[in-house]
Amino acid sequence: MSAHTPPPQSEHRFTFSRASAEHLEAIMQLEQAAYPLPWSRNSFSAIIQQQGNNSGQYEVQLLWQQTQPHAPKNLCGYFVALLGIEEVHLLNLAVHPQHQHKGCARLLLQHLCNHARQHQAQHLWLEVRQSNTRTCNIYSRFGFQTIAIRKNYYPTPTGEREHAIVMCMNLALAMTTKQPSL
Ligand SMILES: CC(C)(COP(=O)(O)OP(=O)(O)OC[C@H]1O[C@@H](n2cnc3c(N)ncnc32)[C@H](O)[C@@H]1OP(=O)(O)O)[C@@H](O)C(=O)NCCC(=O)NCCS
Repeated sequence: MSAHTPPPQSEHRFTFSRASAEHLEAIMQLEQAAYPLPWSRNSFSAIIQQQGNNSGQYEVQLLWQQTQPHAPKNLCGYFVALLGIEEVHLLNLAVHPQHQHKGCARLLLQHLCNHARQHQAQHLWLEVRQSNTRTCNIYSRFGFQTIAIRKNYYPTPTGEREHAIVMCMNLALAMTTKQPSL
């Protein structure tokens, strides 16, 4: 996802909103469609409840698409982030398979960068499965750099373990300050 990648088709209107309990069903449907080992409903429920609390600065942002002015909005994707002191950790980023390859991940990452900057963060961190090469490439093209390998970090569907690639983006240096056109 370079800065030169065209935005998603403009006739398909994209908007963001913060997740709340009423969105749990749609989030779980997307999570289960996107991952072989999805997060549990309880995990999402707890994180959504803790948004904005002092106990944990979680942020769950949903990306919606509306193809017609009065048509219902479809959930295209979301991110889950933990807002720390001067840094933000991306915990989950998913786009529904039906909406992939349209630039939705790029929109979500740009929205996350804006959130992180508003939170005065200097760095954006994430981990990604070593086998998830397409996603690693998306992050690299967006401006993340590989920092380390965390060995045997993730479980696999076959009961084994796989390494995580730890990536970081310096928000002060990143060339992604331009607000995406929604
Ligand atoms: C990884 C994931 C979030 C990427 O989402 P996505 O919306 O398909 O990604 P984008 O469309 O923004 O960008 C990816 C591709 O679309 C291309 N693209 C971006 N904007 C585009 C546009 N307007 N038109 C056509 N293609 C576009 C990009 O060049 C890129 O190409 P690639 O397929 O060769 O990598 C998604 O595949 C997913 O949810 N996977 C399962 C969960 C997962 O692995 N999450 C990451 C955990 S760390």
